[in-house]
Amino acid sequence: MKKWARALYQPCLPLGRNGQRVTGCEEHILLSRKAAAEGMVLLKNEKSILPFEKGTRLALFGKGSVDYVKGGGGSGDVTTAYVRSLQDGLEIKEEEGKVQVLASLGKFYRENVSAQYAGGIQPGMTAEPEIPCDLLEKAKAWADAAVISICRFSGEGWDRKGIPGDGDFYLTREEQNMVDTVTANFEKVVVVLNVGGMVDTSWFCDSEKIQGVLLAWQGGMEGGLAAADLLCGDVNPSGKLTDTFARTFDDYPSSAGFNESEDYVDYTEDIYVGYRYFETIPGAAEKVNYPFGFGLSYTEFAIEPLRAGEEDGTICVDVRVTNMGSRAGKEVVQLYYRAPQGVLGKPLEVLGAFAKTELLGAGQSQVLRLKMPVKAMASYDDLGKIQASAYVLEAGNYSFRIGNSVRNTVKLDYEYQAAQTVVTEQLERKCAPAALKSRLLADGSYEELPQGGDVYEKNRLIPQDIDTLEGVEPDVQGITYQEKKEWRNADRITLEDVAEGKADLRRLLAQLSDRELAGLLGGQVNTGTANTYGMGNLPAYGIPNIMTADGPAGLRIREECGVYTTAWPCATLLACTWNPEIVFEAGAAGAAEVKENNIGVWLTPAMNIHRSPLCGRNFEYYSEDPLVSGKMGAAMIRGIQSQHIGASMKHFCCNNKETNRKDSNSRVSERALREIYLKGFEIAVKEAQPWTVMTSYNLMNGYPTSCNPELLNGILREEWGFEGMVTTDWWNHAEHYLEVKAGGDIKMGCGYPDRILEAKEKGFVSREEMEKCAERILGMILKVD
Ligand code: BGC
Repeated sequence: MKKWARALYQPCLPLGRNGQRVTGCEEHILLSRKAAAEGMVLLKNEKSILPFEKGTRLALFGKGSVDYVKGGGGSGDVTTAYVRSLQDGLEIKEEEGKVQVLASLGKFYRENVSAQYAGGIQPGMTAEPEIPCDLLEKAKAWADAAVISICRFSGEGWDRKGIPGDGDFYLTREEQNMVDTVTANFEKVVVVLNVGGMVDTSWFCDSEKIQGVLLAWQGGMEGGLAAADLLCGDVNPSGKLTDTFARTFDDYPSSAGFNESEDYVDYTEDIYVGYRYFETIPGAAEKVNYPFGFGLSYTEFAIEPLRAGEEDGTICVDVRVTNMGSRAGKEVVQLYYRAPQGVLGKPLEVLGAFAKTELLGAGQSQVLRLKMPVKAMASYDDLGKIQASAYVLEAGNYSFRIGNSVRNTVKLDYEYQAAQTVVTEQLERKCAPAALKSRLLADGSYEELPQGGDVYEKNRLIPQDIDTLEGVEPDVQGITYQEKKEWRNADRITLEDVAEGKADLRRLLAQLSDRELAGLLGGQVNTGTANTYGMGNLPAYGIPNIMTADGPAGLRIREECGVYTTAWPCATLLACTWNPEIVFEAGAAGAAEVKENNIGVWLTPAMNIHRSPLCGRNFEYYSEDPLVSGKMGAAMIRGIQSQHIGASMKHFCCNNKETNRKDSNSRVSERALREIYLKGFEIAVKEAQPWTVMTSYNLMNGYPTSCNPELLNGILREEWGFEGMVTTDWWNHAEHYLEVKAGGDIKMGCGYPDRILEAKEKGFVSREEMEKCAERILGMILKVD
């Protein structure tokens, strides 16, 4: 097959065995179900109510039992052949003779929810109906246990709500009534949460009326069946939280300021995000219902430290994990370190490494080795308290704890002793805040921050009318018969020549006119099933039009195309597996679907930090912790790129709020950037080299991320060694030529070649800068196969 044949000719060439299609295939759907079950988290299991014994009669309450939310909305949504709800899943278990389900209750909810859908309400946004008295009585007389389902939906472009009684983070009044009715009438109650992010857990955490709780997340197309696998004990839960579940919404440090303004967000809690806040700040510990890293199993594990020490700058810890119970299961071992407070102040606990066992049978053991670089324990000194713009490992003792949540650990005998303070990496001041007034310190006090940050180049062209830019289609590159004839006869270097090693990419670029070059720096028309546009598309020089497509929860193809793809569990669930291998597998399988549909770049993974429960896109992101986020992102990227498909790590960076996302300014300290908001991206770049990085819509410290030279050329390329191409997010509000200058290579969905040419004519951007961007775009295309 000719290189880029898929992009050029859109062939119908299945990738499976014996000519079978892999898109939405059984094998992928099975993997989706397996991953879903592995990332669901068992939060509560009093009196061993779970798994349900064989033959248990279940009454399923709550419209959530049929109104299943497979994932969030917007670009992260996926068109699938079907979606299985919890009701569907448990009915399958009934057919298998495992449990029994009250059919009339299921019928009531199905009819109610279908009527709401027919009225235009989308899945997950339906209202909770009142339970009819006759059905309640029937259920009470028949069932052994009640299962309550609560579902939540959110999506791109809007944020969630955190007002008690108003739904979303909290229950709606109608849901609360349903819960009260069920708990008043049944002695055994289990709750299943089909949600994409942090929600209120106080209504069941200490309630004796609710004995079992499964945090089932948004589990993809087989999510309801995967939850049923766990409830019935066909799979033993092994998911662990990658976020802290606090007592109330207001207990999160980001809550107070989240809705202060639509124009900016102050990251005043600084590095004290998630468990770093709850475990460190005086008085915060009691605000936690379920700590970071927590998750129950149907068996018990013993975690026994064997050896710990430093080898060539790496802390190595060996532990033996033994399954002490009677059911096979997997355990996640987490290594936390405690750094001396020193001059800079530190979080009390920081996750340094983690590892998951294989499936261990009763009595079986496995030895795991956890490793973390000593350097990873250094803190970033942005204000020069010790040494400005440097990572500093402060003198003192670094102790280590090992366990299966941030709260359930034992201290290791070994400590790392830093005899003196050392600079582990000297960097430069970059992306400093201009208007963040103060930040939180480890003792709960705040320090004032200097005002007035770095000054970047202002747009020197008359600004575009941004209201007219949303959704602009790229120009179709029409060619005349005469042109085509000329190309054929012309003696010119094509991209194929470059691919075959016959010519140098720079020489190809040198042939292009300014207009041709400027045209390359923007998105190209869709072909085939794509709906997020292409990159390249200069046939005169043999440059194919490589299509992009969304993720991360599956290949997104619009329904009208008639292609159904596999919907994977949401990213937060995948992270809760704490199993990079299964994330790799999902990435590779998803990318095979991307390839089969003749698309070359998958706009996945999304790696922003869960700063606030309200961020409407948290379901697409992994964690409040940058190590988990970075490791999972790296695994996903490796999986995708193993199929010769480009991954696009997004949204770089600080896209932690959706309201006014194209103009909201995230104001954040350099330290929090380095240690929290950039760290996951840094890990993924260093471990997996994504072919592309997508900048975010928001401003960061007063300047659009897509035209910030310190962020793109400075941090991403020079410091981290990123070798790929940078794209904007689609139709952002930044000026195209400034992006080119800053190393933002391509503007999507479409570019503005005329503005670049105008800027070039006026001397604001150079041909050299344009060629540099084009070189990286073509460099990426050369990797697609
Ligand atoms: C989203 C991106 C997405 C892009 C293309 C944007 O609105 O923020 O995550 O990849 O659209 O659909």
